Amino acid sequence: MEKLTLGVIFGSRSCEREVAIISAVQLMNHVDPEKYDLVPVYIAPDGRWYTGKALRDIRTYTAFDPRKAQLEEVTLDLSAGSGALLTMRPGKGLFGKPEQAIVARLKVCLVVMHGLNGEDGTLQGLLELANLPYTSTGVAGSAIGMDKIMMKRFFQGCGFPVLPGLAVKASAYAADPAAVHAQVERELGYPVFVKPANLGSSIGVSRADDEAALADALELAFEYDRRVLIEKGLDKPIELNCSVLGFDGEMEASPIEMPVTHDEVLTFGDKYLHGGGTKQSGMASLSRVLPAPIPDALRDEIQALSMRIFDELDCKGVVRIDYMWDRATDQLYITEINTIPGSLAFYLWQAKGVKYSALIDRMLDCALKAHAEKNERTYVYTSDILSGVQLGSKGAKGAKGAKGTL
Ligand SMILES: Nc1ncnc2c1ncn2[C@@H]1O[C@H](COP(=O)(O)OP(=O)(O)O)[C@@H](O)[C@H]1O
Ligand SMILES: [Mg+2]
Repeated sequence: MEKLTLGVIFGSRSCEREVAIISAVQLMNHVDPEKYDLVPVYIAPDGRWYTGKALRDIRTYTAFDPRKAQLEEVTLDLSAGSGALLTMRPGKGLFGKPEQAIVARLKVCLVVMHGLNGEDGTLQGLLELANLPYTSTGVAGSAIGMDKIMMKRFFQGCGFPVLPGLAVKASAYAADPAAVHAQVERELGYPVFVKPANLGSSIGVSRADDEAALADALELAFEYDRRVLIEKGLDKPIELNCSVLGFDGEMEASPIEMPVTHDEVLTFGDKYLHGGGTKQSGMASLSRVLPAPIPDALRDEIQALSMRIFDELDCKGVVRIDYMWDRATDQLYITEINTIPGSLAFYLWQAKGVKYSALIDRMLDCALKAHAEKNERTYVYTSDILSGVQLGSKGAKGAKGAKGTL
């Protein structure tokens, strides 16, 4: 069987770049070398793209030096279906001009990005334009899933359970902070959780129990985004996460995990830094109870809702949907969807007997299926409207009033 050239694209200009590096290096160790020719593609913080063997070694990133690591800087040829990673290599001889070379031709891409410029539909748009199959949710679903304000509106529209929230722009807050404070008190009441619209990993998220804390929380959140979500807060909710895998109606939900919180907010530290002693890293190192010790009925409800969410957002590959369960009222709320979850949620699938390499195969199958379906559709609609059009450019005198004039 011919091997597929697989581009693993990761990193990017995002606050969560380092988390993505861990997720990607972890994943690359589980790609089946019998099936795939793996090409790592790292997008550095300055936006340059690199490839090379050293990208599979986590030490490469501690003091990132592309020359020392013998990496090649590449660009992706965006011509539909090309998949070529292009580089400039030194010309022959002393005065030879640098020449463009093709380092690899990607046939399918596995996107390992968390946060902006990668998980949010931007890279997905680029890959759609390049007509390359890729593993994550499409452009619209990724963008909505990344933006906490749009996500809430979308879920509300679907009738899914979310906590009430207010959206605030930095300009509106700067113009009249007291009005925003008053609206929060009137419509939500304390405590509230304040979150930058487009972030993840709990960066910039804080709880406010009074007006002074709200002002501080907003100031922090506006450092990261000009749009901020203020959400009604729950007191010590039980957090429950569920992954869904599949594409277009064929999907499956994972067992549910209960992350263990060290504070009111499940912090960046909880998520990635308390794994000491375990051999895991990234999201896989989080302290958790798996499967979560919850009633079977709640488990079934979460799994069913997760699949409905996956379907409504037209997701693809593997996602993780996070919930808060308020014990006091026995209410379940969706916290968020992560369309590219930390560690690709492999540990949740492992708990169901799915090996990481098998999870990767299934994600790639989804990517190829979605791509094949898209390319079966018609993108050409033959008409003769262009031939009937005359634009009023030079040399087109007398076109006024002619049929089809714009
Ligand atoms: N409304 C809320 N009530 C109580 N805790 C919350 C609320 N919203 C967020 N949290 C806490 O903050 C954490 C991060 O919030 P989340 O919306 O998931 O942002 P991120 O995308 O950064 O993970 C959650 O895992 C939870 O611990
Ligand atoms: Mg979260």
